[in-house]
Amino acid sequence: MIGVLISAIVVCLVTWVYLRWRSVKQYWAKRGVPFLPPHAIFGSLTFLLKKNPGTWMIEMYQRFPKTPVIGIWLFWRPALIITTPELAKRILLKDHHVFRDRFMSGGTHDPIGSLNILTTNDPLWTVVRRRISAIFTASKLRALQPLVDTKSRQLITRIKNTEDYSKQNLRKLFADYTTDVFGTAAFGVETHALRTGEDPMRTITEAFMTFDWFRGLCWSSIFFFPELTKFFNFTLFPIWATDYFKKVFAIVVAQRKDNVIKDPKDLVDALLKMKQDGPVIDGVETLRLYPPMGWLDRIPSQDYQIDEKLTIKKGTPVYVNNIGMHYDPKYFPEPLKYDPERFMPGNEQNITQFTYLPFGEGPRMCVGMRFGLTSVRHALSSLALKYKFEPIPGAPKPTEVEFEKKGLFLVPGQHMAINFIPRDV
Ligand code: HEM
Repeated sequence: MIGVLISAIVVCLVTWVYLRWRSVKQYWAKRGVPFLPPHAIFGSLTFLLKKNPGTWMIEMYQRFPKTPVIGIWLFWRPALIITTPELAKRILLKDHHVFRDRFMSGGTHDPIGSLNILTTNDPLWTVVRRRISAIFTASKLRALQPLVDTKSRQLITRIKNTEDYSKQNLRKLFADYTTDVFGTAAFGVETHALRTGEDPMRTITEAFMTFDWFRGLCWSSIFFFPELTKFFNFTLFPIWATDYFKKVFAIVVAQRKDNVIKDPKDLVDALLKMKQDGPVIDGVETLRLYPPMGWLDRIPSQDYQIDEKLTIKKGTPVYVNNIGMHYDPKYFPEPLKYDPERFMPGNEQNITQFTYLPFGEGPRMCVGMRFGLTSVRHALSSLALKYKFEPIPGAPKPTEVEFEKKGLFLVPGQHMAINFIPRDV
C-alpha cells in the first residue's frame, strides 16, 4: 500500500516538474520574444563561472542585433534583456516609479547585504539614498581634497620605491590607493595600505566582492571602490598612447617652463583645469570600454507594457544591456578603438542619449560618481606629471587581458603591470 502511495507521489511529482518545465521553456516563445533555448536547470545562466557576465551581455547583444528585447531565464525565472536606448530611458528614468527596485538583493538573512543601498529596495532605499546623497555634496567633496592630494603623493612615493615594475601588480597598487582614500573618507580612520601594502580594511572589502553562493548576488556599494582599481588599470594603459593627451600635457609643461605655472605643486591643478583633458583624465572612454557593471537591473512593481504586443508581469527582472550599447558601432563607430575624442566638446552631441551608461541613470544611478571621478582625476594627473607610462614587453595590454570569470564586475583577471618612466618637469 505504502509502495503504491510512494509511486503515485513520484509520478505526480515528475508530471508536475515536466509540465512546469514545459511551461517555463515556452514562456518567451508564447510572448513572441526572441531567446536562446534555456538549460533545464540553469536556464540562461550556463555561462556563470565560465565567463564574466559583462562579456556574456555583449555576446547576447550581438547575437540579437535587431531586437529591442531578449528573453532569458535565471534558472527557471523568466527575465528580460533590454537593448535599446529608448527602452532604457523609459525603464531607468521616465517610468522609474514602476522600476524603483533592483532584482539583486542581499536577502533579509544577510545582516549586511540586506542593509546595503545597492541591494536594498523600497521603502528602506529611499531613506538610505537620501542620507548617502547628503555625504556627496560639492562642499563635502571639496573638504576631502587634502586627503586625495596626500594619498596621490603617497602613491607616487610607493612607485618611486618600487624596484621591479614587472612584479608590481597594478590592481593591488590602485586597490591600496582607493582603500586609503575611501576608507579614510568613509570611516574617518586613516588607513595605510599604500605605505604598508597591507590593510585589514581591504580584507573586508575583498570578502565582500567575492562571489558567494550563500549570499547570492550580494555586493557592496560603500565598498564600491575596488571598481575604481580596475578603472585605473585600464585608463593608465591607453593614456600614453593618445596624441591627444600628449598635446594637453605639452601645453601644461610649456606653461611650467615659461613660469606661467610657478609652483610644481600647481601642475596637477593646471592639468585638471585644461578643459580638453577631460575625456582622458576622467576616463569616460575607459568606462565605455570597461564599465564595471555591464548591465543595470530593475524589477517592475506592477505589470508593465513594453509595446502593443508585450506586457511583462510584475516582478520580472529587467536588465538594461548597457555594455552591449557601448560596443555597438551604430552608436560608437569602431567600438573596440580607445578614442577619448568621442567625448570631446563638439563630438559629444553625436552620442545618442542613453547609449552611454557606465554610472547608470535615473534616481538609482551611482551616488559616488563625482567622488570616484575626483579621486581618479587627481591620482592620474599626479602620476601623468611624474611619469611616462610604457608597456612592459610580454605583459598583457588592456585589449589582451581576460576578465575575471568568477566575479560579477568587469575586472582584469590577470596580473597587469606597466613601466613608470620618470619625467623631468
Ligand atoms: C568609476 C567608478 C564607479 C562606477 C563606474 C560606478 C558605477 C555604478 C553603477 C553602474 C551603479 C548602478 C546604477 C544603476 O543601477 O542605475 C552604481 C550604483 C552605486 N554606486 Fe557607483 N560606481 C563607481 C564608484 C562609486 C563610488 C566611489 C561609490 C561610493 C563612494 C559608489 C557608490 C554607489 C552606490 C551607493 C550605488 C547604489 C545607488 C542606489 O542604488 O541608489 N560608486 N555605481
